[in-house]
Amino acid sequence: MQAALCLVLVIAIGCMQITSVTAADPDPLLDNPLNLTSFTIRDIFHNGDVSSGPGGVRAAVNTRNFPATTSEGITVVRFEMVPCGVNVPHTHPRASELLSLISGGPLQVGFIDTSGNAHLDIIHPGDSTLFPRGLLHFEINLGTENATYLSALNSQNPGTLNAGASLFRVPELTLATALNTEFSVLKKIAKSISSDLTTLQKSSKAHCVPGKWV
Ligand SMILES: *[C@@H]1O[C@H](CO)[C@@H](O)[C@H](O)[C@H]1NC(C)=O
Ligand SMILES: *[C@@H]1O[C@H](CO)[C@@H](O)[C@H](O)[C@H]1NC(C)=O
Repeated sequence: MQAALCLVLVIAIGCMQITSVTAADPDPLLDNPLNLTSFTIRDIFHNGDVSSGPGGVRAAVNTRNFPATTSEGITVVRFEMVPCGVNVPHTHPRASELLSLISGGPLQVGFIDTSGNAHLDIIHPGDSTLFPRGLLHFEINLGTENATYLSALNSQNPGTLNAGASLFRVPELTLATALNTEFSVLKKIAKSISSDLTTLQKSSKAHCVPGKWV
């Protein structure tokens, strides 16, 4: 009798733990849902989802260019960022991100948590850092040579929201209140950021001197 009660308790506690686990993407139902014969993508800077800006180049491997990732809950992005290149503050609403610096840099990395605390660090080749799911984050190459790094995101569709650019979609009465400033100041900023929505920017010479902070 006691053994039976014990078993029920073990099962109940196990079930509670299972229901408290949340996943970014649904679990895969099949080994190979698209019946693919190839599980390799070659030369991602040509065959991946390539985009660039003044700060550098990135190539994303995702379901659009590499169907093998379908239903696996993964996206990988490789970056090559110039000195003073910035991946400007943004969020991925559906993924956590593990960033690994392969060469160059160092990078200053950081995210802001929901208590408003900034978590900042400097990372060197061989280091990895985590941006928790949905939180505002950025990275900047503080070094004198290109930084090559790889980010793995645990969703096949992480989504990217550029924080600065999206803020300026808010009507100016609300935005001026939020930033406690004048419409004229907002207009000036909006003009300078609206033309280019890429998140790969380069810090101006007036602000960033390669190697100064390392
Ligand atoms: C994959 O192969 C299975 C078994 O042959 C078949 O039932 C299924 O429809 C195929 N799926 C696709 C997406 O072609
Ligand atoms: C540095 O990165 C930029 C952008 O990816 C690239 O155009 C340039 O050739 C790279 N420079 C070196 C020295 O690798």
